[in-house]
Amino acid sequence: MAENSLTIIDNRTGKKYEFPIESNSIRAADLKKIQVDERDPGLLSYDPALTNTATCKSRITFIDGDAGILRYRGYPIEELAERSNYLETAYLIVKGELPDVKHLKVWEENITRHTMVHENIKDFIAGFRHDAHPMGILVGTIGALSTFYPDAKDIFDLESRRLQTRRLIGKMPTIAAWAYRKARGLPYVYPDNELSYCGNFLSMLWKMTELKYKPDPVLEHALEVLFILHADHEQNCSTNALRSVASSQVDPYSAVAAAVAALYGPLHGGANEAVIRMLAEIGAADRVPEYVRKFKAGEGRLMGFGHRVYKNYDPRAKIIKRVAYEVFEVTGKNPLIDVALELERIALQDDYFISRKLYPNVDFYSGIIYQAMGFPMTMFPVLFAIPRTAGWMAQWAELVRDPEQKIARPRQLYLGEWLRNYVPIDERPAPSQREDAVSAAI
Ligand code: CMC
Repeated sequence: MAENSLTIIDNRTGKKYEFPIESNSIRAADLKKIQVDERDPGLLSYDPALTNTATCKSRITFIDGDAGILRYRGYPIEELAERSNYLETAYLIVKGELPDVKHLKVWEENITRHTMVHENIKDFIAGFRHDAHPMGILVGTIGALSTFYPDAKDIFDLESRRLQTRRLIGKMPTIAAWAYRKARGLPYVYPDNELSYCGNFLSMLWKMTELKYKPDPVLEHALEVLFILHADHEQNCSTNALRSVASSQVDPYSAVAAAVAALYGPLHGGANEAVIRMLAEIGAADRVPEYVRKFKAGEGRLMGFGHRVYKNYDPRAKIIKRVAYEVFEVTGKNPLIDVALELERIALQDDYFISRKLYPNVDFYSGIIYQAMGFPMTMFPVLFAIPRTAGWMAQWAELVRDPEQKIARPRQLYLGEWLRNYVPIDERPAPSQREDAVSAAI
């Protein structure tokens, strides 16, 4: 018997099976070999929400949720946040190595060259209602980009993949900023390629009549750090959506649009907006205990707390908490920080949160910073989507190049009716007899 193997005895048949263990996993497909008889399609593993299923082999991001560790390509997030900038980190994530001076310069030029968007994009954005959520605009407009770049369908061509990667990382801030200006009825600002990636984004958001926008260096740096922290996070909901959609071999714009849609939800990228709403509702530090009681009783969740993978303090939340005070030096203190600190203090002493290993996640403090910087809440998930584009494109390229990947097609456990014969409408049971089943269906 091989040392690195798993032995399973099927008590239904008494048969014994031995499966290899590789990288601390067994292949779910091996379970198919476990059959009661020849007609049995084989054993399935049941894993709603994929909580214990690896869907890929990846070399991009490492997380140890128990220890609170996050690394991109082996580099600790703390070091990158302290010493790198977003575009350099994006290079690392996409290419696998930190660049030398020459390669970084070329990469920056390549991204910068693609910050402009086709003029028709303006018409697209104009078509949305005046109060459209910018995340909805982003989903629609990123999806629409696939119609501008039909060459993106050539997903097995390395040069095409590189080009789409530069385009998407380059254009994301432009579309995001225009979605913001649309809601305010402000004219769109074209990219200023003399500014840094984050500085240019701030310019496209906030430039008014001045000839040249000068971003505040503290805010520009804060955004760089926040973008680094959000650049990738292995197989989260939006990346899983991206990989699943991209597995059909669709173009990357369509796949990224799906990822942005997944990010829109309140349990994912929408959580920082939900945090601000929650903190504003609590209103004052002395009302925190009352709310903590409610959360423990299941009346809503403590937003910005808990994580599927981190069962310790999210390392990103620690860094963001520090950045908040740097930002407040420029913007003035966001009063919600006091409510947040008290909430964290009380929750981290409470048995309910301790026993469930619920700690602040990346979203607990990021919204407070964004609000202090002047962003409306609807922009918070957009500020997550922009930097995550580097991670999505790296994950997409990894998927496309992985010979083991196929179209994603999970299985189900069918629990429905087995076989029924069609009954003409006038012979069907009275509505009252069917009502419960029908009304519970949706
Ligand atoms: N407040 C109160 N109770 C919670 C919370 C919370 N925020 N999160 C989890 N729990 C409880 C939950 O009720 C359950 O208790 P019990 O065992 O008694 O039923 C237990 O903790 C386990 O929860 P779960 O729902 O099984 O955990 P999950 O891994 O499925 O969910 C989560 C992870 C992030 C969706 C969840 O913790 C949550 O809803 N948090 C609030 C939303 C949030 O902050 N999301 C941002 C995530 S980080 C950024 C990102 O990746 O997008």
